[in-house]
Amino acid sequence: MTRGEFIWSALALAAMPTQARGSAGEKLKVNSIVIDAGAKKPFSVLHVSDTHLTAVYPHEDKWKQEMSRADTPIFGAKQEESLAEAVAYAGRHCDFLLHTGDLIDFVSEANLDIAKRLLPGGCIGALGNHEYSHYGWLVKKAGTAGPGREETREMLSKAYPFRLPIAAKELNGVTFVAIDDADGAVSEDQAREFRRIAAQGNPIVLCMHVPFYTPGICRAGKRWWKNGTDEANPELKLPDFQRQRSDSATCEFIEYLKGEPLLKGILSGHLHMFAEDRFSPTAMQYVAGGNFSFLGQMVRVT
Ligand SMILES: [Fe+2]
Repeated sequence: MTRGEFIWSALALAAMPTQARGSAGEKLKVNSIVIDAGAKKPFSVLHVSDTHLTAVYPHEDKWKQEMSRADTPIFGAKQEESLAEAVAYAGRHCDFLLHTGDLIDFVSEANLDIAKRLLPGGCIGALGNHEYSHYGWLVKKAGTAGPGREETREMLSKAYPFRLPIAAKELNGVTFVAIDDADGAVSEDQAREFRRIAAQGNPIVLCMHVPFYTPGICRAGKRWWKNGTDEANPELKLPDFQRQRSDSATCEFIEYLKGEPLLKGILSGHLHMFAEDRFSPTAMQYVAGGNFSFLGQMVRVT
């Protein structure tokens, strides 16, 4: 998403969905959903996404200082507090925390230190497109994109307490599987690992950053981001959705998932707005609003 879109999003914070409510004494506004997965015993997960931390230390380079100066007000300047609120809320009310990417706005030592300090052991998560961004929209001015994907993932794996690029966590007979689809695509290795996990026979909740295309999520995204208004043509012209239709491993994985009866739900982020739509006969897809504006999603798994 472009910087202009982020600015628009910040201006639209006042219009956040009414289904997200804060309860007395809680700063986090939480949308409640239920996934009927056939759990041996019900449990709750706090799903947050898109915190967009923008911290930087004084010794970090001038482009990171500029990124921080420009993007901090866009995301409300309270992202660390909103992440801390989510962690505390999950500790009080849920069995574990799930973060589906863009925890950081760009890679900086200060952001990774906050992640290390705040993310609790036992949480699970996936990377977003911003986890791979070192200079964001300043990349041209900075003259470099920074370290590549593998090196960045290596760096992040030291700060984030979950496995990359695919992590699994089982509770009460239900397995949460988090995959890195930060560029909109799923690799053959990730798909193979997912099928290996599915072969164990547990119901599965798939967690990731970029939602899989469905007409309803596409329409909601278009309305939110003002990305065209032609309702007769609900294709959101986002490269992520286009990649999901052109990358053969991703197409194959999505086709397989649509027929996988063990898939009971999908939790994603990236759009900075709440949305839900049916993905397959057995699974709804739920998109969480941006945690930078103190939003989260309470997932009751039954
Ligand atoms: Fe984001």
